[in-house]
Amino acid sequence: MRKICLSELEELKQRNLYRELRVLENHQGTKAYFQGRELLLFCSNDYLGLSRHSRVVQASQKALKQYGIGAGAARLISGSTEAHKRLEQKIACLKQKESALVFATGFLANLGILTAFAGEGDVIIMDKLCHASLIDGARLSKSELRVFPHKNYRKCEELLQKSKDARRRILVSETVFSMDGDLADLRELIRLKEKYDAFFMVDDAHGTGVLGPYGRGATENKKIAGKIDIIMGTLSKAIGGLGGFVAADKALVHYLINFARPFIFTTALPPVLCEAAYAAFCVIEEEPAIRKKLWQNIQAIHKGLTKLDFSIAKPESAILPVLFGNERKAIAAFEALLKQGIFIPAVRYPTVPKGKARLRITVSAAHTQKDIAKLLLAFKKLKAAK
Ligand SMILES: Cc1ncc(COP(=O)(O)O)c(C=O)c1O
Repeated sequence: MRKICLSELEELKQRNLYRELRVLENHQGTKAYFQGRELLLFCSNDYLGLSRHSRVVQASQKALKQYGIGAGAARLISGSTEAHKRLEQKIACLKQKESALVFATGFLANLGILTAFAGEGDVIIMDKLCHASLIDGARLSKSELRVFPHKNYRKCEELLQKSKDARRRILVSETVFSMDGDLADLRELIRLKEKYDAFFMVDDAHGTGVLGPYGRGATENKKIAGKIDIIMGTLSKAIGGLGGFVAADKALVHYLINFARPFIFTTALPPVLCEAAYAAFCVIEEEPAIRKKLWQNIQAIHKGLTKLDFSIAKPESAILPVLFGNERKAIAAFEALLKQGIFIPAVRYPTVPKGKARLRITVSAAHTQKDIAKLLLAFKKLKAAK
């Protein structure tokens, strides 16, 4: 076995697809040290900088004293606390759904949703660029997975038509696509869901806290929220902590409590993380200036990179990918930026399709104007060196 592993790893190296952990020292949100060099990070999903917000940190410290570090048991044993209940009520309210349920991570939430609601005889119809957790959830569910090209809703409709005889049709999309940063057309997906009587779930991992007039996410419009059966999200991105969530009708949430194995058979999300997330949602509601700053930063970076002639699409989220195509070129760009104190690891296959390697810039409200100027200068030098 060891021999096979070593040869497969060697093959990855030959193809510029080998991955390794880089340990960052003295991590402070947007700044950290790597091999003794101070770096500015433009790759974290802490879009609002809430992982270090004073109210979030204080709420965590208080919860830590009360609950300790862990929940001690699964939710259905003794792991459900007032902290879980309070957070779930908050999420349900923000997502304009009757009920909500938190999972240990967003990945587990997606596995839990798809394995609970889909099974043999069902068809899952999914956008090609959906996250690995959705793909794996579909595979694990034993239903048939049919994939349509990214945002090609004509093809999506064809697949729905072809699946008319299936026991259930489950339509799945991200709201903000995690590697491209573009938005799904939720109105069109809702039209299709209604026309073909499909069950519709969205993954709002990268929309929650970032999109919508009040930061409630891509489904903030009440008419839209009401027509989506399951709104899934994570507490690990703009919320700054860890954990996944589902917002839906009461009956669907009760169904998950009874049938979602990644919910039932794992230890509950630590209450300290529930309290941190609760505080983060309060900050999002009460301090809109943070989101405003995020969007100013997004616009400034987009404008700067466009001026430098990097082809990046008009920003629709806090994710701004700069495409290099070739894996080797993307790694070279990462290394050149690293030398200038900018940290944006290259994203390669299998995270993105082969030949679509990129530097995925993620923007945070915690970035300062000086940070952005440094990023743009580094990209300017990158262009000049080409
Ligand atoms: C679209 C999407 N869904 C789900 C997840 C998983 O979330 P978590 O990090 O909470 O497990 C991610 C994280 O990368 C994501 O980008």
